Amino acid sequence: MNDIIYYKSYDEIQLMKNSGNIVSKALGEVANIIDVGIKTIDIDRHIELFIKKHNAIPAFKGYHEYPYTLCISVNDQVVHGIPSNYIIKNGDIVSVDCGVIKDGFYADSAFTFPIGKISEKKMNLLKITQECLKLGINNAISGNNISDISFAIQQHAENNGYSVVKDLVGHGIGKNLHEYPEVPNFIVNDKKVSMKKGLVIAIEPMINIGSGDVYHHNDNWTILTKDGSCSAHYEQTVHVNNGKAELITNFDYINDILLKKQYNY
Ligand code: MF3
Ligand code: CO
Repeated sequence: MNDIIYYKSYDEIQLMKNSGNIVSKALGEVANIIDVGIKTIDIDRHIELFIKKHNAIPAFKGYHEYPYTLCISVNDQVVHGIPSNYIIKNGDIVSVDCGVIKDGFYADSAFTFPIGKISEKKMNLLKITQECLKLGINNAISGNNISDISFAIQQHAENNGYSVVKDLVGHGIGKNLHEYPEVPNFIVNDKKVSMKKGLVIAIEPMINIGSGDVYHHNDNWTILTKDGSCSAHYEQTVHVNNGKAELITNFDYINDILLKKQYNY
């Protein structure tokens, strides 16, 4: 990644919103179908078709030879879990990460879904991680530094007894999935990157119940917590704007579906 920031014009932001809308809808469709008994590979197949039906391209498939549309990471898997024959169980927490390309622009978002009845411990992890993302987004405004986002996320996680994963970071996004600057979920000394209107970033806290240490599975993709504790991951693509960040992706479709599902139980 070179250290050039590609600021987006008004028209480019509109295109990115189209991409973001498809990612958001795709994750809404995940919310619709994810349940006890479904294989993660079947979710992936369904969403690949869904994205193509919306005239977009799955962004992860083929990226560094990644073979699937989604990354699906269960419980102690942090990110980059590969869709497989794993059958989702009651009590799992399942992170689903999705990216698309539409008209040359990427959007990237992730959500950790609670499956059936999950423990209080897991419920709190999801709540705090989502709050971390929210606090990060609140700081994605022109005049702030990237480190204001990092600090807000790290402080909220650690104040609640959790750890942030430091091996992976959020990122700029646009005509490339990963652009400068990095958006760490923790304070990095000696780094100051100021933000202004036109910068688009993916903010993506990865928070563990136990230690923040992780390892790479020998499948070459999946990243897991070293201590086996559960991990959550939420991600939004946002436009740094004057006064208030502008969401490029959103959780509205997901939240609508999850609410409906609750009433049907
Ligand atoms: N969504 C990941 C990110 O935010 C990228 C996954 S790329 C893949 O950086 F190839 F691993 F799928
Ligand atoms: Co990302």
